[in-house]
Amino acid sequence: MLSDKERNRQLRQIKKDNLRRYRQFGRKQGRKIAPEEYEVQMRDPDNLVEIDDLQTHFFTDIGTVRAVDGVTFDIPRGRTIGVVGESGCGKSVTSLSIMRLLQEPQGQITGGQVRFSLRDGKAIDLTKAPLKMMQHIRGNEISMIFQEPMTTLNPVFTVGSQIDEVSRLHSGRMKKADIRKRSVELLRLVGIANAERVYRMYPHELSGGMRQRVVIAMALACDPQLIIADEPTTALDVTIQAQILDLMRSLKDRINSSIMLITHDLGVVAEMADYVVVMYAGRIIEQGTTMDIFKNPLHPYTVGLMKSRPNMIEEGEKLYSIPGNVPNPIDLPDHCYFRNRCARCIAKCSDPYPPLIPISDTHKVACWLYEEERR
Ligand SMILES: Nc1ncnc2c1ncn2[C@@H]1O[C@H](COP(=O)(O)OP(=O)(O)OP(=O)(O)O)[C@@H](O)[C@H]1O
Ligand code: SF4
Ligand SMILES: [Mg+2]
Repeated sequence: MLSDKERNRQLRQIKKDNLRRYRQFGRKQGRKIAPEEYEVQMRDPDNLVEIDDLQTHFFTDIGTVRAVDGVTFDIPRGRTIGVVGESGCGKSVTSLSIMRLLQEPQGQITGGQVRFSLRDGKAIDLTKAPLKMMQHIRGNEISMIFQEPMTTLNPVFTVGSQIDEVSRLHSGRMKKADIRKRSVELLRLVGIANAERVYRMYPHELSGGMRQRVVIAMALACDPQLIIADEPTTALDVTIQAQILDLMRSLKDRINSSIMLITHDLGVVAEMADYVVVMYAGRIIEQGTTMDIFKNPLHPYTVGLMKSRPNMIEEGEKLYSIPGNVPNPIDLPDHCYFRNRCARCIAKCSDPYPPLIPISDTHKVACWLYEEERR
């Protein structure tokens, strides 16, 4: 246990180190970036995104939060990836890192690459691309649907003008009347029956479900290659959630975009995703095809998540919840982060953090129970 004096000394040191980092970061941001620094080659041309050992940290006054700590996965073209895990495991920070929308200067990408294949055939590392290029990518190649529609919608403009604006930025040469026609069509596509009328309405005049449909229409307006949906239904009530999910499912088959779907809800992932990434305390602990994860979950944490699905219990049975809590992200142990909650712990679990062990071509798990497979 540290004395108050020693703890205060440590806190002062953390602040000093952070200030130095923020200055370094400011200098890096201010300089011109040459194309050689961010132009890259994709490992596989069928992938739209290749996230490679991504590290995103928050340098806070009480220490460094390793929010994303060495995450690697691909998003193939036209496919849906489900990212699941408990609150605070780094799902949103992964998506904000892709978009470069982290809260700066505390939040910084400290390592790794996010390779993205642009429409023009070039590939770039999003973690190093100049900010101007990122702004173009956000409006033209990647769009994001947040949990709460009002974080995207501006309350002082009609929904129609907001969808028009996205189309206008995306395809500068379109005539005003054509842009409007397209916005109304998009509203119809997302299941809004009286689209002409809704086009002229303000966000506050719509229900939560309608607003989220408008946000999805806006996300589609730039015809994105990638849609990131971060808990798109969590803020909605249960019946509306089901309707929005139906909508997303039907859109998935009608558009060519890849989708990164972040959710707590494994049921949603089972229905929508082609591949699943399970995160725990900033790392991937298991990944595979949806079939791999649902038919053969291996990591004790994934097994716990499966057991805690509400539809897995019989009538009168108590809902299972994984005992214990996620470890403090500022002070992560050297061994497996799940050890203090794991009922299947073996002696090996006190060793350094387990690597991702390949079980098949598609299925990987970070758990010492599968060390045999590694050999
Ligand atoms: N701006 C920030 N400053 C400091 N720490 C942050 C910041 N944003 C996120 N974090 C930390 O990063 C970690 C990952 O957070 P993240 O928001 O990605 O979790 P999540 O998996 O999306 O959780 P949820 O399911 O609750 O949305 C958490 O420990 C969180 O406290
Ligand atoms: S490595 Fe050990 S502690 Fe970690 S999940 Fe596997 S069995 Fe449990
Ligand atoms: Mg989140």
